[in-house]
Amino acid sequence: MQSSFTFRSPTRIVFGEGSVDALGAELRALGATRVLLVTGSSHTIGSEGFRRARASAASAGVAVEVFSGVTSDPPVPIIEACSAAIAASGADAVVAYGGGSPIDCAKAACLHAADARLPGAAHPDAAWGDYVHGRIKAERTGPPLVAIPTTAGSGSETSSAAVTTDLVARRKIGMSDERFFPRLALVDPRLQASMPPALTAATGMDAMTHAIESLASRNANALSAAIALESARLVGANLARAFADGSDAEARSGTALGAAIAGIAFSQSGLGMVHGFAHPVGALAGAAHGLANAVMLPYVMEACIEATPGPYARLASAFGLVPTGDEDLDARAALAFVRELSKTLGIPRRLRDAGVDRELLPAILADALSYRNRAASPRAFTDAELHALLESAW
Ligand SMILES: [Fe+2]
Repeated sequence: MQSSFTFRSPTRIVFGEGSVDALGAELRALGATRVLLVTGSSHTIGSEGFRRARASAASAGVAVEVFSGVTSDPPVPIIEACSAAIAASGADAVVAYGGGSPIDCAKAACLHAADARLPGAAHPDAAWGDYVHGRIKAERTGPPLVAIPTTAGSGSETSSAAVTTDLVARRKIGMSDERFFPRLALVDPRLQASMPPALTAATGMDAMTHAIESLASRNANALSAAIALESARLVGANLARAFADGSDAEARSGTALGAAIAGIAFSQSGLGMVHGFAHPVGALAGAAHGLANAVMLPYVMEACIEATPGPYARLASAFGLVPTGDEDLDARAALAFVRELSKTLGIPRRLRDAGVDRELLPAILADALSYRNRAASPRAFTDAELHALLESAW
């Protein structure tokens, strides 16, 4: 835990059922007259929520163009296509509608458009891959971004993070930049009610992982930890209910808020080795991000608790368990709660059960060893310990 810190969370959050209908008025308040609406599949475009977002913008006199077809963990070519669409549309704001992938894509595309494509670009025609690999540092700030999440998972709607997939290197690369904070998040739990149970489970466990990794990070501070604990409480109390009954409005509201505030927390602290493993598991084995986190979480938690149970012990009361005051016992009770929750949600227990081939383990390990947040892990794992941890999870 950091005793001196800076806390920054500039995203305006409008939370609650029906908040999607505020899009038009909020865009006008931003001074926007023309927006690019970035989203994923045609299924999303046909949804009631998307129609309402579009209608709200139109009724406020804001012109809307749509960029669709953003795929999971957006690869470089899609981000560049989105950036080109921002430049071609003349949009003065961008709206991302969907799960973490369209929001991450829009964040990256806004920055790329401003720095490489719009008039006055600092690096005209530079490739997004150059930014991802640190060969170029963006100097411009993109148009303001409005995020409307339809999953309770990534926390991208409030975070300074965006993930890009490098298809050539088969790597997912997470980037943090203060310019990635959306200007506004419209978090409407009703938009998340149509998620099928498996998606509710995987995305919800991504949010739970964000809360736990942020809480336990060496770079946590008192404020980020308080938010992370509340996020864990909200997700812990509501995820199984939302999974069992997607129309449970109270449960959807709880998971929506839990996921959104986890984004605030981990933007301060960073994440940990669950994500360090989940990124290569996703990039190399094709496992969905939330599922990869959900499988890895108990293994990494257990290994960290052996070294430093303190932060995990704080989870016991957040999960509604009666704390004993013994850090080790309380941390292990929290771990048992997470294991039980995963079981209820039908999460596979091992990587092999999630479709990860054994021959991928060396490449997964190699990527995880260089994870950018490794130094902030609550346990200072040696390479050999991470190897053993991966083997046990497989
Ligand atoms: Fe995540």
